[in-house]
Amino acid sequence: MIRDFLVWLATELGKGPGEIDISWSDALASSLNFWGLLEGTHVMTLILFAGTIFVVDLRLLGVIFRKTPVSVVSDRILPLTIFGIVMMLATGTALFFAKPLLYYHNIWFRLKLVFLALAFVNIIVFHYRVQRDIAAWDTLEKPPAKARISAFLSLASWLLVICFGRYIAYDWTNCGKPLPHWINVAQDCKASESGALDLGAPQQ
Ligand code: HEM
Repeated sequence: MIRDFLVWLATELGKGPGEIDISWSDALASSLNFWGLLEGTHVMTLILFAGTIFVVDLRLLGVIFRKTPVSVVSDRILPLTIFGIVMMLATGTALFFAKPLLYYHNIWFRLKLVFLALAFVNIIVFHYRVQRDIAAWDTLEKPPAKARISAFLSLASWLLVICFGRYIAYDWTNCGKPLPHWINVAQDCKASESGALDLGAPQQ
């Protein structure tokens, strides 16, 4: 069902009646500069987003700005982080819209979304649970274990989102190549245009 929707998104949405008319997704994917501009903005806002969130995480781990209360660091930085995440989500969604089927059958994109979801769950748990009694540990050089665990999970999940995001561009695991069976299954290669070819399977 998801794949049928993505096929419609990639080939039908925005397409005019004319024979040479193309869908909005194809128009974006074949644009001379706009796609590159989107990708560049995605990477540039990453610096702002990841850079600011890592500063707060390292304060929560008691590594930097140990003499500055946690709330002072996070209150100063949070507006930049929110701007960064909004830009990442907007440009990322647009990048996805340009080649939805390519990314749908891409294990790195799928892993990236899994850790993106985990990172967001961690943010919600931190803001609604861990941070509730911040008054008790705001000025501590080394915050309590729950805050440090949350900071560690944040660092780890965002670093994985970034790594998997970077791997998306490589064709190591593209459907149609001889791949371990579990990767073909994880990417739903069987349903893709290139099909699934298991490593070691007899050539057709
Ligand atoms: C805050 C969250 C995000 C982070 C930290 C992030 C990070 C990255 C990174 C580091 C890259 C590699 C850029 C490069 O060097 O070429 C990337 C690429 C990409 N991201 Fe994100 N991203 C985020 C959110 C999203 C979202 C929400 C989507 C879509 C739903 C998305 C879609 C993509 C796509 C499609 C590419 C690959 C572009 C290509 O073909 O090279 N990203 N992302």
